[in-house]
Amino acid sequence: MDANDVSMNDLTERVVEHLLVEIVKLLHNYIRDVQFTPAEWAECWKFLTKVGQISTDSRHEFILLADVLGISALIEFQSYPSIPGAIESSPLGPFHVDSSPSFSNGDTMSSESTPGEPVLTRGRVLRFPDTPLAGATIDTWHSDGHGVYDVEYDDGGSGFICLGKFVTDADGKFEYACIKPVSYSIPLDGPVGDLLKKLNMNGNRPAHMHFILTAPGFKKLVTALYFGDSDYLDSDPVWGVKQSLIVSYTWCQNLDLVEKYGIIEIPRPGEGDKNSLGFWLLEHDFVLLEE
Ligand SMILES: [Fe+2]
Repeated sequence: MDANDVSMNDLTERVVEHLLVEIVKLLHNYIRDVQFTPAEWAECWKFLTKVGQISTDSRHEFILLADVLGISALIEFQSYPSIPGAIESSPLGPFHVDSSPSFSNGDTMSSESTPGEPVLTRGRVLRFPDTPLAGATIDTWHSDGHGVYDVEYDDGGSGFICLGKFVTDADGKFEYACIKPVSYSIPLDGPVGDLLKKLNMNGNRPAHMHFILTAPGFKKLVTALYFGDSDYLDSDPVWGVKQSLIVSYTWCQNLDLVEKYGIIEIPRPGEGDKNSLGFWLLEHDFVLLEE
């Protein structure tokens, strides 16, 4: 059974009989070790109260807290084997949307008004080590060209921009057009942001795309791809970057692809020459492990 699919009864039993007992032991030892004072404890529960007060169905401050403490990355890391040749995990982050729309391969996940530079993402999902895997689901989401996620917009993200689900074809292939994400700051207007500021920690994440990969009989994988030319690769506040997850994209001027995917070309950023019209291309294969 997938560790992510335990029932609530199983989870409750495990939490009560093991996890809760162990964390109480650790907390008691910690309180003794650091000689925790009543005033310090009051600071803690006031902070956690603020985390709860700002949390909503679309503002996941507790997940953000776990992310910056490295808890999310550690849990993902130890729940998914690290095997050379298979893709590694990376934290889910606070912006995933369960109800994202399903698309067909070749569709576009953005609109003409979505800010940013066009990117075509395509690749394959493979059974370890290199067998194409048909019918795998790719659930992806990322920021737009302003570094903003769909759920962060005031309308609550009803536009479903830069997020969606795809299923690999008979050759294990997937492909979709969208906007290239850019680096962004995690939300700093809440208690987690206050914590980072007190610690003089950077809140900026390198540009990345999130993915959840699932297929019957395979381990569920939560991961992300980070762009090699992005800032903040060595200072990610949520501890998500791994060398194997750093990718590069190329500037593409293939008119057949422009026509096939309906891509709106732009001058190559930094050049402004109409002869440089094109779009970004990211090609990457995901290698999954059987359960
Ligand atoms: Fe993200």
